[in-house]
Amino acid sequence: MTEQALQTTINDIAIAGKGILAADESVPTMTKRLTSINVESTEETRRAYREMLFTTPDLAKYINGVILFEETLGQRASDGTPLPELLSKQGIVPGIKVDKGLIALTNSGNEKFTQGLDGLSDRLANYKEMGARFAKWRNVYNISDITPSSLAIEVNAENLARYAAICQAQGIVPIVEPEVLLDGNHTIERCFDATEAVLHAVFAALYRHKVTPEHIILKPSMVVSGKDCAQRADMQTVAELTVKVLLRTVPAAVPTINFLSGGQTPEEATAHLNAMNALRSLPWNLSFSYGRALQEPALKAWAGKKENVDAGREALHKRAKLNGAASVGKYTEAMESA
Ligand code: 13P
Repeated sequence: MTEQALQTTINDIAIAGKGILAADESVPTMTKRLTSINVESTEETRRAYREMLFTTPDLAKYINGVILFEETLGQRASDGTPLPELLSKQGIVPGIKVDKGLIALTNSGNEKFTQGLDGLSDRLANYKEMGARFAKWRNVYNISDITPSSLAIEVNAENLARYAAICQAQGIVPIVEPEVLLDGNHTIERCFDATEAVLHAVFAALYRHKVTPEHIILKPSMVVSGKDCAQRADMQTVAELTVKVLLRTVPAAVPTINFLSGGQTPEEATAHLNAMNALRSLPWNLSFSYGRALQEPALKAWAGKKENVDAGREALHKRAKLNGAASVGKYTEAMESA
C-alpha cells in the first residue's frame, strides 16, 4: 500500500518538461517577501498571494507539484475550495515543508542544523489527511575555509535520512534537500568539493536508514562560484561541474532531481538548468523546484493589488513555461523576450 502510494506520487512528479513550484516560505520568510513590495504580511495577504499563484491558467502544463507551508495547507481559495484541493483538481500534487527550520550547530562556529524530527510521524499522518503527498526537509551548508565541517556534514545527513525514512513509512515521498549556500567568495571548485562531500554523506545515510532511492526526489543546489567570488564561472562550467558531481554521487535509481534556485536570478536558474539538459543524456529526470526564481517576477508584478492579479499570473506562467522548456534542454534566451 505505502509502496504503491510512493510510486504513484513519483509517477505524477518525475515527468519530463515539468517541475515543482516551491511556495513553502515560512511566515517570517513570506513576511520578508511581502515587505519588499510594501504589503503588510497577514494571514489574508499570504493567502491571497498564494491563491493568485495557484490559479495561474495552464500552470499544470509546466508544474506538477507545489510545496506548501503548513498555514497554506489549511487555507481556502475565495470560492471556499481548500488550497491543496485547488491544486490537486488541476493535476498538481500538493506537498508540505515539514522541517522546523535552522538552529545553531553547537560547538561548530556558525554552522547550522535542521530541526523537526520530534513527532514527525504524527504530523505527517495529519498532513496526509489534508492532502499532502510529498514532503520537504532542507539542510544548509555554508562554505568557508573550514566549513562545511565533517560534524555538520555527518549530523545533517543522518537527520535528513531519518526524515526520509519516516516519510516513506507513511507513504509520503520525501524531497531530500541538502543546500550548499551561495554566500561567500569561494571558487566553483571549492563548491564542487563541498557538494561532493555533502551528497556522498547524504546517500550513505539514506542507505543506512533503508530509504528506497526509487521513491525520493533529490533537491540539490547547483555547483556555482560564491556570490562574491571575483571571477564567477560561466554557464557551461556550472552545467558541466554540476552534472559531474551528480553523476559521482547520486544513484541512477533516483527518478528525479529538482534543483533549488538558491539566490540565482530567474534567468540564470533557467539557463543553467537548460545547459545541463542540453549537455548529454542523464540517468535521472533533471528539473526544477524553484522558489524565488519562479516567484520573484510574479511577486513584483502583483505588488499586492487586486488589479494586478492577472499580471502576477502571467509572470509566473512565463517562468514556469521557460523552466519547463529548460528541463528538456529546449530553452533559448530569445524566449525571454517572446
Ligand atoms: P529557492 O529556489 O528560492 O532557493 O527556494 C527553494 C526552496 O524550497 C528552498 O528551500
